[in-house]
Amino acid sequence: MSEEIFVLHENPEWLPPFERAFARRGLSFENWNLVERAVDLSAPPPEGIFYNRMSASSHTRGHRFSPELTGVILAWLEGHGRRVVNSSRALQLEVSKSSQLAALQACEVPVPRTIAAVGQAQVLEAVNAFAPAPVIVKPNRGGKGLGVRLFEDLSTLRELILEDGLDPSVDGVTLVQQYIRPAGNTITRAEFIGGQFHYAVKIDTSMGFELCPADVCAVDGGPPAPQFTIIDQIDAVLKARIERFLALNGIEMAGVEFATDAHGNSYVYDVNTNTNYNAEAEAVAGKDAAQASVDFLIGERNRTYGRLAA
Ligand SMILES: Nc1ncnc2c1ncn2[C@@H]1O[C@H](COP(=O)(O)OP(=O)(O)O)[C@@H](O)[C@H]1O
Ligand SMILES: [Mg+2]
Repeated sequence: MSEEIFVLHENPEWLPPFERAFARRGLSFENWNLVERAVDLSAPPPEGIFYNRMSASSHTRGHRFSPELTGVILAWLEGHGRRVVNSSRALQLEVSKSSQLAALQACEVPVPRTIAAVGQAQVLEAVNAFAPAPVIVKPNRGGKGLGVRLFEDLSTLRELILEDGLDPSVDGVTLVQQYIRPAGNTITRAEFIGGQFHYAVKIDTSMGFELCPADVCAVDGGPPAPQFTIIDQIDAVLKARIERFLALNGIEMAGVEFATDAHGNSYVYDVNTNTNYNAEAEAVAGKDAAQASVDFLIGERNRTYGRLAA
């Protein structure tokens, strides 16, 4: 087979559901693990479909420059007109929550009020702008909930800032954000495949903010895994606006997180272009989003290269 499906990523632990889904269709994929690699920019890329699953949290696995390497490769692929699923623009948004919020707002998706700040005095000033309301402080380049903290008591937060006690963002940008107290303590993560809503998961946040849905995030003696429950629908207006945002930003696969407050207002605060699915919740609901993703990729490969479906 000359036209392959390539998966660009930096964490092999998240691949098994996709490997199984390809195997069920009698196929495999080209595994591009983007940690260290050289690219000959004067040569054309191979023919194929390229699925970008680069993760904002790569630095937490010691892969500080994987997003930059992915940027180089996506520019090369796109320059040669290759079909990329989750484009270079998707990568830009993956590694910058402030860029996500700006692009969401441009599509009339409600987002929490957020001040992005560089510098201790500026972070303090941002906190004061929210006082006395509680705030969320988080790194601009995040992932897995690391460094995301809620402060109900702003004086504690001010002291922490003065002691340089906040987890720094790898890009130096700190976000101070309106806290959306989620009704029933649950947030929603809506999964989109091929740019279309697939299903949503309700996630209980009472045990903390490290809400990675991949099963591998729940091991290693960490806190108990949060509860995930799949639901089939979200608000139709919100869904349509998110789908438009995804289409305008070259994002086809994503988990989009929002909190709904006691008044029923929803605010989107996180877009994960590298998304993982929770196996236990899928087993209960009879869903398989990895299979749906792989079937979408195979369909795109067949369409792009004029191949008949198997
Ligand atoms: N503005 C907010 N209001 C309420 N909860 C929030 C807010 N921002 C983040 N959280 C909570 O923290 C978790 C992690 O934050 P998030 O922005 O998704 O970062 P990450 O990219 O690390 O997942 C969220 O799933 C949610 O439970
Ligand atoms: Mg998140």
